[in-house]
Amino acid sequence: MKSIAVSGVILAAGQGTRMESDLQKVLHPLLGKPMVTYAVEMMRALTGAAPVLVVGRGADAVREIVGEDAVFVEQAEQRGTGHAVLQARDVLQGRSDLVLITYADMPLLTAETLKRLAERQQGNAGPLTILTLVTDTPRGFGRIVRDEAGGVFKIVEEAVATPEELALRELNAGVYCFDAEWLWSHVDQIPLSLPKEEYYLTDMVEMVVGDGRRVEAVTTEDDTEVLGINTRVHLAEATRALRRRIDERWMLAGVTIVDPDTVTIEPDVAIGRDTTIWPNTHLRGQTTVGTHCAIGPNTVIEGCQIGDRCKVLASILEQAVMEDDSDIGPFGHLRKGARLCQGARMGNFGELKNSTLGPGAKMGHFSYLGDAQVGAEANIGAGTITCNYDGKRKNRTEIGEGAFIGSDTMLVAPVKVGKGAKTGAGSVVTHDVPDDALAYGVPARVKGEKDEHS
Ligand code: UD1
Ligand code: MG
Repeated sequence: MKSIAVSGVILAAGQGTRMESDLQKVLHPLLGKPMVTYAVEMMRALTGAAPVLVVGRGADAVREIVGEDAVFVEQAEQRGTGHAVLQARDVLQGRSDLVLITYADMPLLTAETLKRLAERQQGNAGPLTILTLVTDTPRGFGRIVRDEAGGVFKIVEEAVATPEELALRELNAGVYCFDAEWLWSHVDQIPLSLPKEEYYLTDMVEMVVGDGRRVEAVTTEDDTEVLGINTRVHLAEATRALRRRIDERWMLAGVTIVDPDTVTIEPDVAIGRDTTIWPNTHLRGQTTVGTHCAIGPNTVIEGCQIGDRCKVLASILEQAVMEDDSDIGPFGHLRKGARLCQGARMGNFGELKNSTLGPGAKMGHFSYLGDAQVGAEANIGAGTITCNYDGKRKNRTEIGEGAFIGSDTMLVAPVKVGKGAKTGAGSVVTHDVPDDALAYGVPARVKGEKDEHS
């Protein structure tokens, strides 16, 4: 497909009223990404250019989300799929050899199928190739009527089909590849269709056949690919189908998913070989997981980078980093900017925010560190808290290499605990503790120093 230019048109002007929502239909998230982004990203990848997105009036929210990934044209009044395509003519006429057309509410369509369509059209002497689906569940799609020689003859919409036509098992998916020149010179000649007074793209089949030319068809039997989303029931169906597709891809790439039914892996996640994903685990956003990890059960990870041989048990991780051989859980919470360095370990009921636990450092039980830097091999005793917020500002805490923070220590930031220093159980540390010193008490005093806080 290199030598020929292909442009893409995505229809998205329909009202989507059956979603019963304040949010535009095509912005409803499907595994964490707005529905419309699937078609836009695929078309971009396939054609190498931003596709034309035909939207209805007041689609500002869609423009905001999609931005420059698509070229927007407005169809002010919804007068049918043919009329919608006509709106793209000014932008695209003379720009490409082929035009691919699909819908924004059909997010599971694959690039492979669209590519097959374009390739078939390249070998077609006629100006149109359509995607058809053979299935026993017609779900309101138009029926493909073929002539005696087996050629595509016309598409009949369900509402006007005869009983014989209704029984046909080959359906119009709504995905088309046109010869660009033919499309742009004929799209304004679609006859008006009564009683709705709309212009149907499907009527272009009869226009081609009437000219004595041929409509080709590429057929799929995978009805998940052409699942159109009109209701939230469809949205759930599409989510399930997409999850299955993603899960299978990772399983075939060497990831064990113990119970795919309870696992969600979003499309932009990457997982290394020999990692095991336990039940009730959700991997979201731009998350990467290395090799030989054990993730879950009962875990949510969003926007995180996780190295090799890490363990995450029953924990919540957001925008955090775990280096190789680190582990967390059960019941840990890594918030934005948290980092577990190599071999660091964080146990029961710990919370880390905008903080680094140095290589081999340990924080076993019931602790909160915010805006803190912990040196290598330090030990954070049970119940340690950084008092990092003074009501106005967030203040930093530094804990040196090999330091030992006694149980229930309050570190009143800004404060530094030196390398190899210790704090006694229950101490409230309000002043810096020198290297190798011991501080204890409330407020904490450094052992061997007199009245150092006066
Ligand atoms: C259409 C096809 C039908 C096919 C089905 C597959 C026509 C006449 N019929 O029917 O043969 O089986 O898709 O899903 O094309 N849209 C606009 N502007 C409009 C009308 C529609 O942008 O004026 C967009 C919608 O947002 C939607 C798509 O086009 O994404 C399809 O429209 P829809 O009304 O759902 O068509 P169907 O009746 O389902
Ligand atoms: Mg539809």
